[in-house]
Amino acid sequence: MSKTPKNIELTQHPFRYYFKKYRRLTVTALVSVILTNILDSLIPLYIGKAIDLIAERAELESVALQVLFIFLLAMGLAGFRFFWRILWGSFHNKVAHDLRQSIFNKLTFLGPNFYKTRPVGELMSLIINDVQAFRMGIGPGTLIMFDGLFYLVIIPPLMYSISPSWTWKTMCLMPFIPFAMAKLMKVIQDRFRVQQDRFADVSAISQEMANGIRVIKSYAQEKKQTRLFNRLSRRYEISCNETAHADALFHPIMGFGVTVGAVILVFIGAPEVISGEVTIGGFFAFYQYIQKMIWPVTALGTGASMRSQAEASFKRMKEILDAPIDRPDSGDFEVIDFNNLSVKNLSFKYPDEDRWILKDVSFELKSGQTLGIVGKTGAGKTTLVDLLTRTYPVPSGHILFNGKSIEQLKLRNLRDNITLVPQESFLFSANVRDNIQLDRIYSTEEIDVATHFVAVHDEILKMPEGYASQLGERGINLSGGQKQRLSMARALIRRSPVVIFDDSLSAVDANTEKQIISELKRNIQDPDGLLKTTIIVSHRLSAVQWADQIIVLNKGEVEATGTHAELLEKSATYQNLYLLQSEGGEA
Ligand SMILES: Nc1ncnc2c1ncn2[C@@H]1O[C@H](COP(=O)(O)OP(=O)(O)O)[C@@H](O)[C@H]1O
Ligand SMILES: [Mg+2]
Repeated sequence: MSKTPKNIELTQHPFRYYFKKYRRLTVTALVSVILTNILDSLIPLYIGKAIDLIAERAELESVALQVLFIFLLAMGLAGFRFFWRILWGSFHNKVAHDLRQSIFNKLTFLGPNFYKTRPVGELMSLIINDVQAFRMGIGPGTLIMFDGLFYLVIIPPLMYSISPSWTWKTMCLMPFIPFAMAKLMKVIQDRFRVQQDRFADVSAISQEMANGIRVIKSYAQEKKQTRLFNRLSRRYEISCNETAHADALFHPIMGFGVTVGAVILVFIGAPEVISGEVTIGGFFAFYQYIQKMIWPVTALGTGASMRSQAEASFKRMKEILDAPIDRPDSGDFEVIDFNNLSVKNLSFKYPDEDRWILKDVSFELKSGQTLGIVGKTGAGKTTLVDLLTRTYPVPSGHILFNGKSIEQLKLRNLRDNITLVPQESFLFSANVRDNIQLDRIYSTEEIDVATHFVAVHDEILKMPEGYASQLGERGINLSGGQKQRLSMARALIRRSPVVIFDDSLSAVDANTEKQIISELKRNIQDPDGLLKTTIIVSHRLSAVQWADQIIVLNKGEVEATGTHAELLEKSATYQNLYLLQSEGGEA
C-alpha cells in the first residue's frame, strides 16, 4: 500500500528542526568547536609566556616544560579541530540528504497537474542548488556565526589581561577592517551569484542541444546554436573572472590590514614594552589576538547572509513539500475478482480550467470484453483513460469497479486491476529486460511470451546485447514503434484484469499492427492468455473495428456506441473516419 510522504514537520524554523533532529551530533560538534576555540585562544598566551622565559634567560628546563605544555595544547587543538570538522560536516551532509530525499519522495507523489506548470530545470535546480544553499547556511554559515560571536566574547578579555589601554585603542581601530572586508565579501557574493546564473544558462543550452539535436540538424541550426553557446560560455567566463578578481583582492587586503595593525601596535605599544609595563611575550600574544579577531568578526556578515540565503531556498523547497497531492490515498476497499467497470455520467475539466473536456460520458465494460474508443485528436480519449486510472481526481460515483467508486479502492489494488499503456512511451535508463519487468521479477519464458505478443522479440535479439542492452538516455536509440511495443510488453506481463492501450500502435507500421491485433484477438479468447478485458484507444479504426463495443468520442461527448457495423449505420463521425481511412489505404 502506498503512503503519502511523511512531510518534515516544519512548523518550526527549519534550522531549529534539524538541530533538534540531530541533537547529539550537533551538540558534540559544537562542544568540540568550543574546546577548539578555547585551546586556540590560549596558545598565544602560553607562547608569549615561553618568549618571556627566554627573554628573562630562565633555566632551560622551565622553558622546555613550557614548550612541552604548548605542544600538548597544540595536539589537543589538532584533535578537536579534526573531530568537529568531521562531526559538523556529517551533520550538514545528513541534512542535505534528508532534504533531497523528502523532495524527491514528494515529487514522486505529485501528479501531472503539478508538473504541467513546473519546468524541469526549476525542479533540478531545487534539488541541487537550493539544497546546497540550505546546507551551506545551516552548516558553514551557522558555524561562522558561532565562531565569530565566540571570539568576540572570549578574546577581548584575554587582550584586556595583557594591556587594558591597548585593548581600547585596538577596539577603536578594529571595526574598520571587518567593515571593509564585509563590503568586499558582499561584492564577491554578488558576483558569485551572477556567475551561477550564467552557468545555469550554459547548462540549459547544452541540455537543449542534446535533446533537440534532430531539429537542430534538420533545420541546419548548428552554427546558430554554436554561436549562442559561445556567447553564453564567454559571458560565463567573464563572470568567473570578475568573481576571481574580487576574490583575489581578499587575502592581500586582509594580510595588509593585519600588518598595518601590527605596525600601529608597535607604534602605540613600544613605550609600554620599553618601560616594562608589558612584556615582549605579552606583545606577541596581543598581536596574535588581533589576527584571530579579524577573520571571525569579518565573517559574521557572511554567515548571516548564508543563513538568509538558506532560508530563501528553504521557502522554495517548502512550496514543493507542501504542494497538495492530486489524489490522496483514501480508500481501503479491494477488488479481488474484476467483474465490471462502469462509467456513469462522467464530466471533467482540468483543475484551474474552465473548459469541459468530457461531457456526460457513460459506458459499461464487462470482464472479458474489448472496448474500442475512437475519436479525432483532442476528442478527450487520453483524458478519459487517465481518469480510469485515477491520474486526476474525479468526484465520487462516476467511475465504478465492481460497483465501488474508484476513490474507495486502495491505490495499490487499483494498479493491480488496471494497467495503462500511456500514449507517450517512456523508457528508463536500464536494460531491456528491466524496462519490461520494472520492480518485479519474471522468468525468461514469461518475458518472451510478452515480447512475442507485441512482435518485438526478434528485434530485441538483434540488439548488441539482446535483453541486456542498455536503453534510455545514453543507450540505443529505438524507433517510436519499438518503444511503443516495449511499453506494451511491460503492461502485458503484469497480467492485470484490465489493460488499456492509449494509441499504442500509432507508430507501428500497418503489417505489424495487423499482426499484433490478431495476437490480441487470439489472446482474449485464450483462457490462459495475457489479456482479458481490454480497452483500445485509437484514432485509427483498423485497431478497434473488431472490438465488442466501440465508443465514438467527439469533443468530449459520446456520439455513438455500438459495434463496427452498427456505427457505420448510425454515426456520422465514424462513417467519416472510415471513409477517410479507407481512402488512405489504412483500414
Ligand atoms: N493536462 C491538461 N491540462 C489542460 N488541458 C488538457 C490537458 N491534457 C489535455 N488537455 C486538453 O484536453 C483536450 C483533450 O485532450 P486529450 O484527452 O489528450 O485528447 P485525445 O487523447 O483524444 O487526443 C484537448 O483539448 C487538450 O488540449
Ligand atoms: Mg490521446
